[in-house]
Amino acid sequence: MAIRNIREIGDEVLNKTCKEVTEMTPRIRDLIQDMLETMYEANGVGLAAPQVGILKRIVVIDCTGDDPHILINPCIVETSGEQVGQEGCLSVPGKSGQVTRPAYVKCVALNEKMKPIELEGTELLARAICHELDHLDGHLYVEKVEGELQTVQMGEFEEIDD
Ligand code: NI
Repeated sequence: MAIRNIREIGDEVLNKTCKEVTEMTPRIRDLIQDMLETMYEANGVGLAAPQVGILKRIVVIDCTGDDPHILINPCIVETSGEQVGQEGCLSVPGKSGQVTRPAYVKCVALNEKMKPIELEGTELLARAICHELDHLDGHLYVEKVEGELQTVQMGEFEEIDD
């Protein structure tokens, strides 16, 4: 396992569309472990494969520090409501901005065993699912910020709530 280098805004890999994963391989298993390690090391609550330079539809999310979700080829299938909150991204260090997201999100994906799973979230988890899935289509939250992007004193983080 290894900590991978997190790509930052301006790196064109962050603006590309990722490809679906068709089979689990030792290489992808290593990538997922490295993504988890890299996310925890950076105190993020989520990380998408393009953030470490890999154009595959893989996301890891952990909003509590002990509840990792591994989402392969994830798709949002249901949303409801709205939440407005501050969001940040490990690829946009030292910044945050206000983004409106659904209050509730349901997504389907494959897990690390390539078995179908469903993940439902509200609050930070709903926000993280939307934010991370956007990365897979080459989108950063800064495109959705309402008002000014803020400079924050904190170190790197992925998402923060109100
Ligand atoms: Ni991000």
